[in-house]
Amino acid sequence: MNYKIALIRGDGIGPEIVNETVKVIDKVGEKFGHTFEYVDVLMGGCATDAVGVSYPAGTAETCKACDAVLLGAVGGPRWGSDKPAEQRPETALLAIRKDLGLYANLRPAALRPALSDACPLKKETAEKGIDLLMVRELTGGIYFGKRDKYQTPDRGMEATDLMAYSEMEIERIGRRAFEFARLRRHKVSSVDKANVLETSRLWRAVMHRLAAEYPDVQYEDVLVDNCAMQLVRDPGQFDVVVTENMFGDILSDEASMVTGSIGLLPSASMGDGAPALYEPIHGSAPDIAGQDKANPIATILSAAMMFRYSFHLAAEADAIEAAVDKALADGWRTADIAKPGETVIGTRRMGEVICENI
Ligand code: IPM
Ligand code: MG
Repeated sequence: MNYKIALIRGDGIGPEIVNETVKVIDKVGEKFGHTFEYVDVLMGGCATDAVGVSYPAGTAETCKACDAVLLGAVGGPRWGSDKPAEQRPETALLAIRKDLGLYANLRPAALRPALSDACPLKKETAEKGIDLLMVRELTGGIYFGKRDKYQTPDRGMEATDLMAYSEMEIERIGRRAFEFARLRRHKVSSVDKANVLETSRLWRAVMHRLAAEYPDVQYEDVLVDNCAMQLVRDPGQFDVVVTENMFGDILSDEASMVTGSIGLLPSASMGDGAPALYEPIHGSAPDIAGQDKANPIATILSAAMMFRYSFHLAAEADAIEAAVDKALADGWRTADIAKPGETVIGTRRMGEVICENI
């Protein structure tokens, strides 16, 4: 088969980690008999520099003509929150999620076997293992609600961000969570703040309705503040964690940290049709950009998710994951995951090692 992949290389370390990932994808193609066609898509701070806006017209259309989208990273201090919205890379990220209908964001956080001592938690906790799937609602809630900023007569400026959720939006993300739980350990933890927020009370009601449809899946409600605590106290208790956009943004960073390196964690964002978008969880790390220091593994593992979910090629996905695990088991480390005394290799060498293992 021939697959068409949109590449958003982006900013900072984005281009370097995408380069290594493309090598791995091509190696998989060679070995399993697929071909890939790449379509470069300009988006992020680099687009602002080139054409004045971070999300040039036609970006979504170009992506929609592809089977999947691979994104390196966008963002950087040069396009900060003081800049107009259309110049900021984050605006582009939110826009592409909305335009491609990518309402379900999957962020697996698992301890990789060779790196279990990278887990910052107590040894007894790490030994129980961590293997959870964060399912974050990605196109609703406060990140997409109406915003306003206005002058008050007596309290200075005031700003508001509206958090809204419809039953439809909650149900479709909830269903995804229950379906994924059926492929895993049959447990869903739904995170909300139902003791305070009306959106959370609606969220909870819809989740309870769904839970009744999936009697084979164990279900629990977890308040978001308690979830933040449980993630560092005993992350092994979680299988699938489903939550709204902002809670998921925050908790997925926390979950990634407890596995030891944010440089290892992939993600997938999907809607009801093609294409889905795959990207590492980490950002653009401008401080190490262009120095052959970045860890390409999260992006390479995102490509594994692409094979699994967009191309339905499980053996190819397994081959990539096994190649990464072998590289780590053989002791290859980029700087972010190296312990004192371990030999550090660069982005390109890590890419090569993983290709050799395919
Ligand atoms: C993420 C990021 C984005 C988000 C930002 C950069 C808009 O933090 O993907 O988690 O909040 O969704
Ligand atoms: Mg985030």
